[in-house]
Amino acid sequence: MRKKIIAGNWKMYKNPAEALALVAGLKKEIGAQSAVEVVVCPPFVDLAAAVQAAAGSTIALGAQNLFWETEGAFTGEISGAMIKASGATYVIIGHSERRQYFGETNATVNKRLKAALACGLNPIVCVGENLAEREAGKTFDVVKDHVTGSLAGLTKEDMKTVVIAYEPVWAIGTGKTATSAQAQEVHKFIRDLLAKLFDQATAEATRLQYGGSVKPENTAELTAQPDIDGALVGGASLKVDSFSAIIRNTK
Ligand code: 13P
Repeated sequence: MRKKIIAGNWKMYKNPAEALALVAGLKKEIGAQSAVEVVVCPPFVDLAAAVQAAAGSTIALGAQNLFWETEGAFTGEISGAMIKASGATYVIIGHSERRQYFGETNATVNKRLKAALACGLNPIVCVGENLAEREAGKTFDVVKDHVTGSLAGLTKEDMKTVVIAYEPVWAIGTGKTATSAQAQEVHKFIRDLLAKLFDQATAEATRLQYGGSVKPENTAELTAQPDIDGALVGGASLKVDSFSAIIRNTK
């Protein structure tokens, strides 16, 4: 049985004081529930404050990126070990904004993913097509390329902690959610692909999140789909009310 997982990707929003307040608010609202796994991914500089604020609750913390080297002269970068030492247990890898603005490719996603696994962080690997690709009928080709390239060289054992987030780029921050049928179709495709790449048991055990304009009103329908195991939430994760409602509405 796959436990549902709702993660908040704060992107480049909230300073440490704001992070502390938001996590404290979430802790009050949903900090004791255990039906759904909850992860909050603030900017790096907020992690320490967020970990402190979440103490004693079921809320886990995650980062939004990591560098693949363990340490060294890499100005501006943060290693997986540093993230782990901050108390975070998850890391988002290969978000479409990183692919779009920071030159992330399947190859760099793969290096980051292996680094995350090596230091015991739980990765959330993002995949998904953009609007032009969807309109050109290339959705499945793009998703297959992202999944296959990102997971290259991983073992079934490695896959035990990997979460995959399907985020159609055209649905991110646009208010245009994929319909639950559109999302389910791609999730099923990813699960079938995992069965081919690994095996059936791995495919059935891997959690697949949907991301892209998830809000309290569409959470129940999306998460009720057989292959949708939760959500990666952007905008609606920045407020206690909406993020708590998403968690409560998760089916
Ligand atoms: P929105 O929920 O704001 O559309 O963002 C989705 C996302 O990119 C989460 O990683």
